[in-house]
Amino acid sequence: MTRILAIETSCDETAAAVVEDGRHILSNVVASQVELHAHYGGIFPEIASRAHIEAIVPVVEQTMQKAHLGFDDLDAVAVTHGPGLAGSLLVGVNTAKGLALGRNLPLVGINHLEAHIYAHWLEVESEGRASKELEFPLLALIVSGGHTELILMHEHGQYEYLGGTLDDAAGEAFDKVGRLLGLPYPGGPAIQKVAQDGTPTAFHFPRAWLDDSYDFSFSGLKTAVLRVVEDYSDPPRGRLLANLAASFQAAVVDVLSAKTAWAAEEFDVTAVLLCGGVSANQSLRETTVERVGVPVCYSPPALCTDNAAMVGACAYQRFVAGERAGWDMDVVPSLRLA
Ligand code: KG4
Ligand code: ZN
Repeated sequence: MTRILAIETSCDETAAAVVEDGRHILSNVVASQVELHAHYGGIFPEIASRAHIEAIVPVVEQTMQKAHLGFDDLDAVAVTHGPGLAGSLLVGVNTAKGLALGRNLPLVGINHLEAHIYAHWLEVESEGRASKELEFPLLALIVSGGHTELILMHEHGQYEYLGGTLDDAAGEAFDKVGRLLGLPYPGGPAIQKVAQDGTPTAFHFPRAWLDDSYDFSFSGLKTAVLRVVEDYSDPPRGRLLANLAASFQAAVVDVLSAKTAWAAEEFDVTAVLLCGGVSANQSLRETTVERVGVPVCYSPPALCTDNAAMVGACAYQRFVAGERAGWDMDVVPSLRLA
């Protein structure tokens, strides 16, 4: 039995979890900073790192209490060291180093994007989970506030980059358009909610197919929404707001699901893994399931957005492969997966 304490502070959630054998969540605690950043309509890096400093010790203590474990029961400490905001990552990395050094435990450094993929190895009772053991090759669509990438996974730890966003990430587009529409931060869940009462074909917003490559672009779409909103003196409300939200969401979902379906077919994968905060989107899930010929896996929303359980799941694979970080491990804000 391998028990790993995992820490995640790459963006605006202070999170810690204890995961057993990369699958069983013994505890999973997330302290969200959403309300702090909502004032600014987005993440304020300086405020994020200060909030992590305040939250990290209580979050780790609570995680250990909920797991009913002492530090002596752990086999390793894992932490996200990139990509993300430097000042935020530093809080998690230094906490993990302190704990590992103080308790004489091995330290494992984790890539946040890889952790989002490994959320699919966690055992949870929920719709969208694989009915049997996942087999390679797999296709991962990672869609979050900072990333939009299509990744072919050949094996544990072996990744091939197929394409990604050339400008805004999908979640960033949701957040920016949410702000244009006068909706609260984060824009993703807010847009999904108002879109329920809208007509997705009310506005035909542009789709950037980019010569049918596996790359994405959302900045033109954001500008197209801005052009409509600019024509009105007040923020959109009622039917207009619902139609704008539904039409924007449809444009994002159309391109993400179509390119995922093309890649799933071209690379003959056994399953598609929807990963990251935007994979909580109901329309993205439904449309991808409709278009892709193999099983499409998704996680409960709390495991789509940032959390440390996914870091623990990923760390187990790295740990059994013998990977250990040195005390000189640094944060890597632009760390890549492939
Ligand atoms: O993975 P995540 O928690 O953080 C990053 O690693 O960036 O993703 C956060 C992003 C935000 O941009 C948020 O608007 C988006 O995920 N998001 C959603 C939904 N829930 C969260 N986007 C669309 N629909 C949702 N239901
Ligand atoms: Zn994330």
